Amino acid sequence: MPDLDIDALLAELTLEEKASLVIGGDFWHTAPVERLGIERVMVADGPHGLRMQPDGGDHVGIGGSAPATCFPTASGLASSWNRSLAAEVGAALAQEARVQGVSVILGPGINMKRSPLCGRNFEYFSEDPYLAGELALAMAAAIQEQGVGTSLKHYAANNQEDDRLRVSAEVDERTLREIYLPAFERVVTGCQPWTVMCAYNKVNGTYASEHHWLLTEVLREEWGFEGLVVSDWGAVHDRVASLVAGLDLEMPPSKGRSDVAVVEAVSSGALAPEVLDRGVRRVLRLVSQAMPTKDATPPEPAYEAHHALARRAAAESAVLLRNDGTLPLALSDGQTLAVIGPFATAPRYQGAGSSQVNPTTLDVPLDELRAQLPTHVHLTHADGFGLDDSSNDAALLAEARDLARQADTVVLFLGLPAAAESEGFDRTHLELPANQLAVLETVAQVSNRVVVVLANGSVVRTSAWEDRVGAVLECWLGGQAAGGAVADLLTGAGNPSGKLAETIPLRLEDNPSYLNFPGDSQKVVYGEGLFIGYRAYDALALEVSHPFGFGLSYTSFSLGSPSVSVAGSVGDELCVSVTVPVTNTGAVEGAEVVQVYVSDPAASVRRPEQELKGFAKISLGAGESGEVQVDLDERAFSYWSTRLGRWVVEAGEFVLRVGTSSRDLPHAHSIDLDAPSVAGPLDRDSTLHEWLADPRGRDVLLGAFDSTGSAGFIDDDLIHVIGTMPLSTLAGFGLGGFNHDLLDKLVSEL
Ligand code: GLC
Repeated sequence: MPDLDIDALLAELTLEEKASLVIGGDFWHTAPVERLGIERVMVADGPHGLRMQPDGGDHVGIGGSAPATCFPTASGLASSWNRSLAAEVGAALAQEARVQGVSVILGPGINMKRSPLCGRNFEYFSEDPYLAGELALAMAAAIQEQGVGTSLKHYAANNQEDDRLRVSAEVDERTLREIYLPAFERVVTGCQPWTVMCAYNKVNGTYASEHHWLLTEVLREEWGFEGLVVSDWGAVHDRVASLVAGLDLEMPPSKGRSDVAVVEAVSSGALAPEVLDRGVRRVLRLVSQAMPTKDATPPEPAYEAHHALARRAAAESAVLLRNDGTLPLALSDGQTLAVIGPFATAPRYQGAGSSQVNPTTLDVPLDELRAQLPTHVHLTHADGFGLDDSSNDAALLAEARDLARQADTVVLFLGLPAAAESEGFDRTHLELPANQLAVLETVAQVSNRVVVVLANGSVVRTSAWEDRVGAVLECWLGGQAAGGAVADLLTGAGNPSGKLAETIPLRLEDNPSYLNFPGDSQKVVYGEGLFIGYRAYDALALEVSHPFGFGLSYTSFSLGSPSVSVAGSVGDELCVSVTVPVTNTGAVEGAEVVQVYVSDPAASVRRPEQELKGFAKISLGAGESGEVQVDLDERAFSYWSTRLGRWVVEAGEFVLRVGTSSRDLPHAHSIDLDAPSVAGPLDRDSTLHEWLADPRGRDVLLGAFDSTGSAGFIDDDLIHVIGTMPLSTLAGFGLGGFNHDLLDKLVSEL
């Protein structure tokens, strides 16, 4: 079908037809208008695998869906720190969407991990907006290159599940701009996602679905978004108000209610026809975007290749947190490996809710280990603990102890049961289940070669137990091929290269959102402001179990001294290039992630101690050297000035810290950036400090005190005491002959 002639269609459509177009046709489709040949297009979850429901549907994954490849969830994929891998997964998702006739994939989910307790953290990338934005952009761009759309979600500040349809996220603008919006901004400006999905919650008292500042002023007028804003399913409360705010498509349709309301509003003059036309135009543009792919012959399914990709992605997503040499497994013929835990035979590989995929196949870790281990290594298995039913735990524990006692090495598959984390509710603690910790302690007492493999969507506390075992491999929710990936990593067929995209704190209470999560009375205050994740732990100088950006390998790497070059300038295409030599100094091939953090010690406002602003992953053979280049643009040095209402770079020193974890940054490189003053214009209410800090203001002011013969009046001790006082107040005191007339004269002189 040729591109739709949207203007012509708009002229033809009746008011009722227009009202029907700005609400869905059914749970998963836009509305058709057969009379004019406008076809419907299908949308489907989800961020890490298709959940296409051929008949009817539900928004929380209870009903069935067509088989599709289940890739690692976002918390896993983010741990790969690999943009091209995220793109490969995106391309595969798009290919499967085309096979199933889906035009828009409802993902990626990029909300920040404000608290480790959020039930949907498994569906989100990181506690850092830069990392999330980079990986989500890579994925979304790759999906759309296949002629399939995306839906960037959930816009915005949807950082908890508790009361998510009503709670108001109370967030100051600078925190929104620097923490909760940047990943959205990066993807919107980077690849124009076909759609953005608004969140259920309110932001500062207004529903996101009716938030003109979010949906129109920021998203469209500032970032230049050209696509369509779709509601989260059931997020629209007032269709007319949401249309005015910039919400173009309500899903699912509330037929007979929203369309009637829109018709009545236009007929009564309460809603300007051009506002409705604006929404209709965007829906028709979406349909027009979808048609070429929809009309094309779908590709042949490639599920085997996608399963292999899912295995590679799961392997790259795993983070080796601890290893005393127990890994990789070195078992010889005749030795025994005991595998304990129900996840070894019934793997936990995805999260519950709208993202739940019906996998094309499912690797069983125990079988995959059997396939990879030398034939004469004896493999035993016991559950060791129950997941939903703990009534048999004593017997299971005894069985596990006996098995461990007779084994040379033990691999414990632990993690969060499906009931512990999901869309729809938040967690209340970070602990592994007690029966799992009991098995770990028991096994550690009878074996000194114990490996823990974790399957969890968001962090669990490891500080209580990790020193009881030799190795810990965090596998997140690794998707349908996680079983094969774990076997690859445990046996050394693969080498872990994941890095934490979310800090593992020593304890939950160390996380600053702890005091304000999940809020109450339909309100949650983001009292910690900018300081989430490592930004908080750095500012509070807190030890953590494992820092943001951390991950071990079976090999070792060394980073040479970075070279830094500065091109352009602030306000004129600034580009600071950091080139870092990297050597694999170990005996096996592996991959390292070079990370660049920016620190702004001269800032006049409170800023995080350091912020991730660049990274590059490099694979190197044993003994091989290479180099990576990370380019930093002006935004990498900027903060949002609430006074000026824009991004600013403050002139002065910046420190670039280079390393392989937020707490392992052996190289620091200072640069000085010149930039226009960010101080506002001096006036009567500017303080003595502000007048003295401004070269012109200082000359004029000291000149004035000279003229009244009281130059000596302004000495350092006095300035220390009265420096924060506005000059208008000081003029009222008349000290040193300084009065209002003189102040007015100074201001007019400036
Ligand atoms: C759900 C989720 C959203 C999903 C949508 C459709 O409630 O919040 O992420 O895409 O509804 O299932």
